[in-house]
Amino acid sequence: MNKKNIEDIVRKEIIKSVIDSQEFIIAGNWKMNKTKHEVISFLDQVANHNFGNKNKIIIAPPNPYLYLFEDKLRYSQVLYGVQNLFPKESGAFTGELSYEMARDFGAKYAILGHSERRMLFNECNEFVSKKVRICVQNNIQPILCIGENLDQRIGGEYKQHLSNQIKEGLVRISGDELKDVIIAYEPIWAIGTGETATPDQVEETHMFLRKYLIDEYGKELGEKIPLLYGGSVKTSNVLDLALAQSVSGFLIGGASLDAQSLIEINNILN
Ligand code: 13P
Repeated sequence: MNKKNIEDIVRKEIIKSVIDSQEFIIAGNWKMNKTKHEVISFLDQVANHNFGNKNKIIIAPPNPYLYLFEDKLRYSQVLYGVQNLFPKESGAFTGELSYEMARDFGAKYAILGHSERRMLFNECNEFVSKKVRICVQNNIQPILCIGENLDQRIGGEYKQHLSNQIKEGLVRISGDELKDVIIAYEPIWAIGTGETATPDQVEETHMFLRKYLIDEYGKELGEKIPLLYGGSVKTSNVLDLALAQSVSGFLIGGASLDAQSLIEINNILN
């Protein structure tokens, strides 16, 4: 056996042991995509699929399809949530969705403060923090999205921006409540652009965020809060990104729309 073959074998073994030792969260954000027919076809492919018992699969479809998820995923390993919530119980809030409505259909997660909502609907940290609060109080796990734009990345102020988004987004929860929070780091310049952050960039940013969480909320909680990466994640790059330190999983847009691609991503991380 030559040196190259030995190096390949050692590399494969190391990758296997890293992947084996970690439970990943694989969350899909469908955004405003799919017809009813397409949703049914997707659910028929994943409902009885054996995803193994290591990783957690979560999908956030558009709200009108939640009833299909409730119906078809009753005995499935696939969990689901919503892409947004309004931070009130009920009332005169035209076009909005309450936590109770989401829970009525079995949603267990809510994506909050996604950059598209921050940019298109002017959502600020203050508003997002109210959503985080109402979720944590009512048994819905928030997936708090944070991320910098290209100017902030190039200008070097992205770390300050990210830690600020966390600090202000979580300002209304404290102590033990923090254990229910999931954070998703999604650099805006890598969303839907095909431009993925490199594994080195992801590792550097996630290590910074992990340290920030530990400094801010203490070692025990700070080490446990899952840190997802999102931005052009797909079957071809997910393994390299998963090997970056402090990556607990992924928030995936485009590549989560196809059942076979989601299954393949889980296979790679299994
Ligand atoms: P893409 O995976 O399509 O880049 O989207 C990422 C995202 O915004 C998930 O919330």
